[in-house]
Amino acid sequence: MNKMMIRLTAVLSGLSMGPAAHILFSAAFAGERSLPATVPAVPVTKNSVSVSTCPRTVESFDGGWRFARFGLQGDGSRLAEPGAGLLKTQVVTNHTISDASSPASTAFDDSAWRTLNVPHDWGIEGPFRIELPGDTGKLPWRGIGWYRKHFTLPADDAGKCVFVDFDGAMAYAQVWLNGAYLGTWPYGYNSFRMDLTAHMKCGQANVLAVRLDTEKWDSRWYPGAGIYRHVRLVKTSPVHVGHWGTFVTTPEVNDAGATVRIAVTLKNQSNNSVKAAVRTDIYELGPEDTVEKLVAAFEGSSTIELEAGIEAGVAQQVKVANPRRWDLATPNRYLARTIIAVGGEVVDRYDTPFGIRTLEFTPRDGFQLNGRRVEIRGTCNHHDLGALGAAFNRRALQRQLEILREMGCNSLRTAHNPPAPQLLDLADKMGFLVWDEAFDCWAQGKKANDYSRLFEKWHTRDLQAMVRRDRNHPCVFIWSIGNEVMGQCDAALTRHLADIIRAEDPTRPVSNGYNNPNGGRDSGAAMAVDIMGINYPQRRSVRPQEDYDQDERYSDMPTLSSETASCLSSRCEYFFGTSRSNWQVSSYDSDQPSWGCPPDVQFAYMARLPHLLGEYVWTGFDYLGEPTPFNSDHTNLLNFRDDPARQAEFERELKRLEEESPPSRSSYFGIIDLAGFPKDRYFLYQAHWRPDLAMAHILPHWNWPERMGQATPVHVYTSGDAAELYLNGRSLGRKAKRPGQDFRLVWADVSYEPGTLKVIAYKNGKEWATDTVKTTGDAVRLSLKADRAAIKADGEDLAFVTVRVEDREGLTVPRSHTRIRFEVDGPGEIVATDNGDPTSLESFQAQQRKAFNGLCLVIVRARRGQGGVFIVKATADGLAAGAVRIDCSTIECASNRFSE
Ligand code: GAL
Repeated sequence: MNKMMIRLTAVLSGLSMGPAAHILFSAAFAGERSLPATVPAVPVTKNSVSVSTCPRTVESFDGGWRFARFGLQGDGSRLAEPGAGLLKTQVVTNHTISDASSPASTAFDDSAWRTLNVPHDWGIEGPFRIELPGDTGKLPWRGIGWYRKHFTLPADDAGKCVFVDFDGAMAYAQVWLNGAYLGTWPYGYNSFRMDLTAHMKCGQANVLAVRLDTEKWDSRWYPGAGIYRHVRLVKTSPVHVGHWGTFVTTPEVNDAGATVRIAVTLKNQSNNSVKAAVRTDIYELGPEDTVEKLVAAFEGSSTIELEAGIEAGVAQQVKVANPRRWDLATPNRYLARTIIAVGGEVVDRYDTPFGIRTLEFTPRDGFQLNGRRVEIRGTCNHHDLGALGAAFNRRALQRQLEILREMGCNSLRTAHNPPAPQLLDLADKMGFLVWDEAFDCWAQGKKANDYSRLFEKWHTRDLQAMVRRDRNHPCVFIWSIGNEVMGQCDAALTRHLADIIRAEDPTRPVSNGYNNPNGGRDSGAAMAVDIMGINYPQRRSVRPQEDYDQDERYSDMPTLSSETASCLSSRCEYFFGTSRSNWQVSSYDSDQPSWGCPPDVQFAYMARLPHLLGEYVWTGFDYLGEPTPFNSDHTNLLNFRDDPARQAEFERELKRLEEESPPSRSSYFGIIDLAGFPKDRYFLYQAHWRPDLAMAHILPHWNWPERMGQATPVHVYTSGDAAELYLNGRSLGRKAKRPGQDFRLVWADVSYEPGTLKVIAYKNGKEWATDTVKTTGDAVRLSLKADRAAIKADGEDLAFVTVRVEDREGLTVPRSHTRIRFEVDGPGEIVATDNGDPTSLESFQAQQRKAFNGLCLVIVRARRGQGGVFIVKATADGLAAGAVRIDCSTIECASNRFSE
């Protein structure tokens, strides 16, 4: 097919790019997708054409896949891959494999394979194996996975274009339809489309086969394995809006009005040249994606001539009066609805959600959203969802974002890869800013088989895919081309990558996370980005920011702390005189690897340098893999590449760790543990990030029978400015914070006696908040609480049930590790269990688990389509059982799901 791409460049006004600029971005956005079928059809009034005949349909393609795993198995054995020899030579586009021994061929017999729904992660199924590397979670994610889906296309699909959209497949995806090779997308974090049109059979059965290979992949964290994100089947007429084919910008925004410009890429997959009429109208979009008031109608339509087999673009502009801005507290969105007509008949309708807001990045006044200063209070997060692994689940992610928002987090860094597109949908709706990141390495890798293997051939396509998919989301405000990449001092390469992004989206700044910022600046490479991102800027080896502010090349460059803290802790573990014991890290929040610092040190740094844009803490949530300080991953040595003496010392430490073989399989960096339970540090961030929330938090717990009379430090995190601590009613003194210097209050030598610790916090001399911690009695019962009392019976929605081991008074017994067994009565099922212990090698799918310091989590869902009520029960030896009731009477099923 003779394809021609016409680049659509957004019009920008008041924008000057380049490092020495005060950068004003006025833009808007959301991903390529039509809204769900539940969106009520809104009649398009003015100049309207009927949309009832619109042939575009988008349906879930998640259900009913057949799956088998070859190559490396969970237990470390190997299983020969059928038809492997055939693939080596026959992966040629449109080549058809007919040999029945290959799973790519239609004739292959997959009747013995498992049937499952995607998103699916075969790695999380385990088992954990202590001999596997801790850096990737001690889980057996390496292997070769085949997925096959049998489906019938109705006869009247003949003449349509049919595509399958993958949100992400880990890794090295290769796709066949009816034996014909359609193509590949190796980078597991990107979304991609496969065109079925040429090889589909209408009115008949079809087989889509996908081969994934994680044996070829390397990672510094747990990557997951499989079709771990959603898949959709998209049908269009031959003349249609192309893949990610709209780009909405807002070149002028003020209170009176906003200019909305939409560039549309049209594709003509018919055999004839056509004249297509294009018009876009703008509607208000409700929080639940309901299409509301029409606010701007395009006058007439633009006509474009498209030859057969051609892609071409058209741009249109409308004015929206008195725009409702997208902002953190008011994430208002609009919908651009584009109608394509040929010969008066509607051939496509394509919806693009977007937002109207202005972004300004300044070297002196930080970051401004809609003209108002917003300090970036961000967290970096990897993509796994704890016990669910990498298998994407919208509710699990939404819960994470709710927990982060409650802490005061306003921004997410997608470390170190493009996220699931639904993360951006949620961030748009919930009001988070997103630092959207492409890579953890460029041409020179950190591990033998990481992205460096793909970089040369794929980096342009991968960057384009990320930007085209994500550039309509109002939440996305910075693009990142990398994290601590080895080529960070290569000016030409940095410029090349930044320019690929700018060609796709000139409305947002490009950044890069530097761990060698001096090198980046001295080489000039950092001048090729728009924002200087510095990881761990407080490190002694980094010249103080003041030096950069004197450097005329950088004095006008907006700068942020792209990674900070890396503080380490295990929830509710406290040690005295040491901070590490039994493969756990103390929750006094003062331990970190040598490149990191306690949160307080970073807060003080920011207070001294208020012109910086803000920070991204490493990390919001604990994640699978990278269990520093018990991580023997040699890529850690890269942190010391400029310091041979410390590198040698660290190498010895890694060797020692390897020999000791720690059980640690998930990180200690999280402010929140893997199960989603906040650690103490959560309240340190909340105190600083939500100064207007009246709160106080005491640590540690007060169950120390073995410490009678011993000095036991008590720390208080509060949004107040002073506090008085009491033990059993006696004051232990009042302490005040020095502004910009103290972020916690410490009573270092409280002599332990059982009873009650109480703190009264003050702000401006007035009582502000209190907290109490009591010595508990023995554990007597289990108590269960679900995050939501009602969920949908769609097979996807989840309830997260927290189980507490309680004493007679209902206090959580902090040192309890009792084993808890779970069962469900009624139309529900257990999906996974967890407790936040980074050293636990128990299976996440097990229906029993030990509590970790008094808490346990069970994740449940309703059986698909079976509404009603189910009861989750928990029992433990010697304790009264607990139960919680979950209502799942709303039966709302994702279409095309496999039902067991
Ligand atoms: C950084 C790196 C992150 C993570 C972190 C742990 O240097 O960018 O990916 O490894 O260290 O502290």
